[in-house]
Amino acid sequence: MGFALARGFIKENFNIIVCDKRVSLADKYRAENIPFTDNSQKALQGAHFVILAVKPQDAKSLAESIKEYIEKEAVLVSIMGGIKMQNISNYFQSKKIVRIMPNLPTTKLKGMSVWTCSESLSSEEKETIKKLLSSVGKEIFTETEDMIDSATSVSGSGPAYFFLFLKSLIDSARKEGFSSEEAKLLALQTGLGAIELAYDNDLDELIQQVASKGGTTERALKVFAEEEFTAIVEKAVQAAKKRAQEMSEKF
Ligand SMILES: NC(=O)c1ccc[n+]([C@@H]2O[C@H](COP(=O)([O-])OP(=O)(O)OC[C@H]3O[C@@H](n4cnc5c(N)ncnc54)[C@H](OP(=O)(O)O)[C@@H]3O)[C@@H](O)[C@H]2O)c1
Repeated sequence: MGFALARGFIKENFNIIVCDKRVSLADKYRAENIPFTDNSQKALQGAHFVILAVKPQDAKSLAESIKEYIEKEAVLVSIMGGIKMQNISNYFQSKKIVRIMPNLPTTKLKGMSVWTCSESLSSEEKETIKKLLSSVGKEIFTETEDMIDSATSVSGSGPAYFFLFLKSLIDSARKEGFSSEEAKLLALQTGLGAIELAYDNDLDELIQQVASKGGTTERALKVFAEEEFTAIVEKAVQAAKKRAQEMSEKF
């Protein structure tokens, strides 16, 4: 995820340096013209924004190893799942905290990020976060940190829900006699076109446009309704949110 963000930031000419203790990643970063170091002291020198992108379980040891190098007025930006701003503030003894929930399509610069921050951030700093996130997709700011858990359950985990639906459609297409390649194309191109239409049209109207009275789509949608598809999605989102809240209590 750190790599995905760095690629977007470099594209928009932000002045960044990536620090990862996995030195083997150096070539991957250099191939994309992204400055790289495994020396955190060097990376943090004069850094106005410090993006924390390690696994949640590594946050504490990361804090221990870098807190003495962080500039006094630096903004700490966490993309770490399930770590509350209060805990980040405790780990680093810093007042300026940003918490972001990005998602996997960030790797294709089509990410969806939901973010919040502490009150001490200036409007210029908030603007910079907006610009950073806009370089890798779309962003939504939320005043309340609880909404980060909600975002985790919708947009953070969401790509997996779409992948599951695509997989199911591909499996069905194969059972109808299409080759694996054809089945994948049928599902993906249908998904791509549908999402594009959904951006600037009403979803109910779109459904009606496809589902003519007494036709095939109507029959399929009846099965979705009978099997309570909408309720299943709602239940899954709620389960993901509950897990996000449990994780917040752990770290
Ligand atoms: N993947 C997603 O879709 C997604 C979505 C939203 C949010 N997130 C959040 O993004 C964060 C990163 O996830 P990821 O999947 O990108 O993790 P990752 O692949 O493990 O990347 C973290 C990198 O940081 C390195 N690292 C660990 N401790 C370090 C230290 N003290 N100093 C320097 N480098 C250190 C790790 O090296 P080692 O492997 O050698 O430890 C690893 O290369 C997580 O907190 C996750 O919750 C991920």
